[in-house]
Amino acid sequence: MKKNLTIFFSLLLAGTSWAAEGEKLFKTYCWGCHHQTAEAFGPSFKTIASKRNKGEIIAQIVDPKGTYKMLGYSRNSMPAFADLKPDELEALADYILTFKDAK
Ligand code: HEC
Repeated sequence: MKKNLTIFFSLLLAGTSWAAEGEKLFKTYCWGCHHQTAEAFGPSFKTIASKRNKGEIIAQIVDPKGTYKMLGYSRNSMPAFADLKPDELEALADYILTFKDAK
């Protein structure tokens, strides 16, 4: 019983911190160029979520110069965010993908 409770609470904590962390990172690093559902300098997270998977999103964040052509762009204007940690990248990608069905 004690073990189950521990698992329950760690899942709960992990679950809440992912979404919140992704939103925080988005506001810190991405919001100048990407908005949630409206086009800005870069495509909206809704547009991105509708056509990309997690791997493509993470690849673009860490190495846009290596992925922009593959994603169909003729030039690259997005800087690389190579210093983000693996769990921060996961959190950002998860956050972007929550906009898949956004209105
Ligand atoms: C200086 C502006 C700028 C910033 C800051 C920026 N981006 Fe971008 N982003 C762009 C532009 C412009 C593109 C279009 C492709 C390119 O230029 O490489 C793009 C493309 C993307 C794509 C691929 C779009 C597609 O078609 O699937 C993803 C994913 C993405 N950005 C995520 C992010 C995330 C996450 C952050 C924050 C960590 C971020 N971007 C920060 C400008 C920016």
